[in-house]
Amino acid sequence: MYTQAMDTMGKEPGDGKKAVRSADEMRLEENFDAHIDAGDFIEAKDWMPDHYRKTLVRQISQHAHSEIVGMLPEGNWISRAPTLKRKAILLAKVQDEGGHGLYLYAAAETLGTSRDQMFDALHSGKAKYSSIFNYPTLTWADIGTIGWLVDGAAIMNQVPICRCSYAPYARAMIRICREESFHQRQGYEALLTMMTKGTDAQKAMVQDAVNRWWWPSIMMFGPPDDQSPNSAQSMRWGIKRFSNDDLRQKFIDAAVEQARILGVTLPDPDLKWNEERQAHDHGTIDWSEFWRVIAGDGPCNRERLATRVKAWEDGAWVREAALAHARKQTKLKEAA
Ligand SMILES: [Fe+2]
Ligand SMILES: [Fe+2]
Repeated sequence: MYTQAMDTMGKEPGDGKKAVRSADEMRLEENFDAHIDAGDFIEAKDWMPDHYRKTLVRQISQHAHSEIVGMLPEGNWISRAPTLKRKAILLAKVQDEGGHGLYLYAAAETLGTSRDQMFDALHSGKAKYSSIFNYPTLTWADIGTIGWLVDGAAIMNQVPICRCSYAPYARAMIRICREESFHQRQGYEALLTMMTKGTDAQKAMVQDAVNRWWWPSIMMFGPPDDQSPNSAQSMRWGIKRFSNDDLRQKFIDAAVEQARILGVTLPDPDLKWNEERQAHDHGTIDWSEFWRVIAGDGPCNRERLATRVKAWEDGAWVREAALAHARKQTKLKEAA
């Protein structure tokens, strides 16, 4: 999972400053720009401007953090899934998200950052991750709703990244997107089962979950285009292909039809078809909530970070044992 809002957060030291460049560097940058304009991919060994590298490190590492923190709200329900089938599906999905994190940490490492640096930034609270994972999963219907809306929004965001100009990121995204589409479908199918075969209480539970997740889900596309200062540069570099508002609109238009089939109401009285625009108009998004959650004051920010740090600390013995085993194997090979 991922939010397009990632590229709007935080500033690295030196961002936005114009460095003094040599004639050689200017030639290299012209060559780089020509590759980008021609739609070529940039590989790890290719020259790239410092700001491009930093933007990608920030975006890919925050994307990786979002994948592994995203395991936590759903992980809460593995032991409480209603059937063995749903438990097996949820286990596989949460494991997929862990795998997505690993592909993405590996892609970020190709840019010269280390896994330890990235984990340090996450665990110290310096790095951001998607704001959506700071909301609680109160009922089983939340799990289906996350699949439908949150993974659904992630797919809308992530499919264009399969054509991102940085090749290791684009390659990771191709694998991730294939799995995300299953995540979306399993969530929708879980909700459809409750809505078509469930009790009135189960149907009410689905509606309640949709009411709570709808607005945070459409915030996942990031702030409106006129308040998204890094977007133009990311689009120029082919890191980002569509604007936040364009992707949000596509998502809303698709979700309205899916909600109708499910038999749930989307909690926005201003949501209606605009014949002229051939798209749905929607109500005002509470961006103050988005910025509050990003800044660390969402319903579960502290709990998520504490759980993540504890998991890291509890796993220290596994990492130490793996290193000790690797050292032993090396010694044995040297002795042979
Ligand atoms: Fe994922
Ligand atoms: Fe997912």
